[in-house]
Amino acid sequence: MKEKIEQLLNEVRAFNADSKEALENFRVNYLGKKGSIPALFAEFKTVAPELRKEMGMRLNELKNTVQEKVEEQLQKFESQHSSESAFDLTMPAGEMHGARHPLSIVARDINNIFENMGFTIAEGPEIEDDYHVFTALNFALDHPARDMQDTFFIQKEPNVNKPTDVLLRTHTSSVQVRVMEKNQPPIRIIAPGRVFRNEAISARAHCIFHQIEGLYIDENVSFADLKQTLYHFVQEFFGKDTKVRFRPSYFPFTETSAEMDISCNICGGEGCNICKHTGWVEILGCGMCDPNILIASGIDPEKYSGFAFGMGVERIAMLKYQINDLRLFFENDLRFLEQFETA
Ligand code: DAH
Repeated sequence: MKEKIEQLLNEVRAFNADSKEALENFRVNYLGKKGSIPALFAEFKTVAPELRKEMGMRLNELKNTVQEKVEEQLQKFESQHSSESAFDLTMPAGEMHGARHPLSIVARDINNIFENMGFTIAEGPEIEDDYHVFTALNFALDHPARDMQDTFFIQKEPNVNKPTDVLLRTHTSSVQVRVMEKNQPPIRIIAPGRVFRNEAISARAHCIFHQIEGLYIDENVSFADLKQTLYHFVQEFFGKDTKVRFRPSYFPFTETSAEMDISCNICGGEGCNICKHTGWVEILGCGMCDPNILIASGIDPEKYSGFAFGMGVERIAMLKYQINDLRLFFENDLRFLEQFETA
C-alpha cells in the first residue's frame, strides 16, 4: 500500500490538465466514489495497527495534494477564461475621446520652434532652494520677490533669508543656474515647467502656472542675436505679420534687460480691450546675462556672453486662443477642453 500511495503522489504532482474536461476526469479518478482514494481508505482498514499512523498520514497527504491540484488547475482555467473575455487584443480600437490640453499644445509648439533653432530641453526641480531661485541669479537678500507674499517656503527661518531655504520655485530661471553649473558653453537650452507663487486666484492670476525659460551662452552672443531669435519665434508662433518691440526693463540676472511686446494679434494693432487700446501686448522678459550670474555658476564672462528670456505659457495661450480667464485652464471642464485640437 505504501508503494501505491507513493506512486499516486508522484502522478498527482506531475499532472497538468490541458482542458477543463481532463481536470474533471482527474478529480473523479482520484476522489470520486469509485476513485483510487476512497479505495485506499477502504483498504486502510486492513493495515496492521503499528503501521496505521504512518499510513494514515500518507493517505491524507495524498488526498490533500489531489484537492490542491484540482483547485490550482481550476484557477488556471478561470484566469485564462477571464483574460480572454476582458481583453480581445485583436479587436479594433474604439473611437478615441479627449483632447490635448491647450497649455500642452502651446508649450509643445513653443518648444518645437526653439528646438528647430538648436535649443534642447532642460529640466530642474520644482522644489528648489533659495540659492538656485534667487541668490545665484543676483537677487539681493532683501529683494521683494523673496517675500512671503510671493514665495511658498517649505523650510525657512523667520526674518532671515538664507541660500539654503527650501521653497517652491517661483520661476524657471532656476534651471539656468542648474544648467550653467553642470555645463560649459556653448549652452542653448529651453526649460519648460511649472512655477508657484502665493497669489490669490483670479481671472488674471493663479498660484500655479507654467513658464518657458531660454538660455543661450557662447562666444560673441549679442543683443542682436537675442532680438533675432525672439523675432523668429514670434513669426513662427503668431504669424508672419506679427511685429515686435522691446522696452527697457529690469531683472536682477540680466543687464541689459527688456520686455518684449508683440503687435496685438486680436485687433491687428488697431487697439482693443485685450491690448488696452495700445495695439501692443507684452509676452516675455529677456536680456543679456549679467556677468555676475555667469561667474556664480563657473562660466568666464571675459570669454562668453549670453542672453536669457522667460515667458508665461498661460499668457501666450490666452493671447493665441483669446481666452480671458486664467482659471479655465485649471478647471478641467470638458466644454472648454474639447474646443482644442484632439489627441
Ligand atoms: N523669471 C522672470 C519672471 O518670472 C522672467 C524672465 C525675465 C526670465 C527675463 C528671463 C529673463 O530669463 O531674461 O518674471
